[in-house]
Amino acid sequence: MTAENLVSPEGSAATDAVSILDGICPETERCPHGAPKHPENNPDIPFKFSAENEPVIDEIIKRYPPQYKKAAIMPLLDLGQRQHGFTSISVMNEVARLLEVPPMRVYEVASFYTMYNRTPVGKFFVQACTTTPCQLGGCGSDVVVKAIKEHLGIGEGQTTPDGLFTFLEVECLGACVNAPMIQINDDYYEDLTPESVVSLLDSLRESATATGSGGASPKVPAPGPLSGRQTCENSAGQTNLNSQPWGIETTRSDL
Ligand code: FES
Repeated sequence: MTAENLVSPEGSAATDAVSILDGICPETERCPHGAPKHPENNPDIPFKFSAENEPVIDEIIKRYPPQYKKAAIMPLLDLGQRQHGFTSISVMNEVARLLEVPPMRVYEVASFYTMYNRTPVGKFFVQACTTTPCQLGGCGSDVVVKAIKEHLGIGEGQTTPDGLFTFLEVECLGACVNAPMIQINDDYYEDLTPESVVSLLDSLRESATATGSGGASPKVPAPGPLSGRQTCENSAGQTNLNSQPWGIETTRSDL
């Protein structure tokens, strides 16, 4: 999948950007609304797992008893999404065929869990947590989200015209202690400020456009806190357990 076919042909401004929240009915034949068949997501587009992924599929299926093969739906959907770029209707149908389950069983899983992207996303899928701890922690997610939207020129659920970034607000991603934070593809970036998130987006854009040019790759910050913290230690330094531990003469003078 190339960057070009991630965006609308005429898309050049924020208002033209593709939204992953737009309703897309991949199965036109059964669509009660008569939606046009999506050019990148309909059951006529063939999908097969690659030769490299075939041993991975065998390994995944072996983890479950033969009568519970359907337990492999989630890891196989994940593998399909990583290969294809998103969880298309054809990926779901192929997983159903491999696991010998009705396709609806796979659709139910793919449409329940938000980790499965059922429409194309950009090379960098930016998901900003806006749940209460991130909204209140540090500088707050409101200003981080505003900075992302303004810098990329896209709104909720949209992809930049160059196909590099898709933006979505999401609920708690489980890194509340380092709020505010965002997830980009598989990585978390934490302790964000409007300045650090803009600089992160710039470095990702540079790394994507520099690929294959022969020049030195721009440095993309390592995932984790962008504040200098290692993990989630107190940013004011250690404030307790900083004296010598008591010996037994203090705790049990009778002994
Ligand atoms: S509230 Fe944002 S990670 Fe939990």
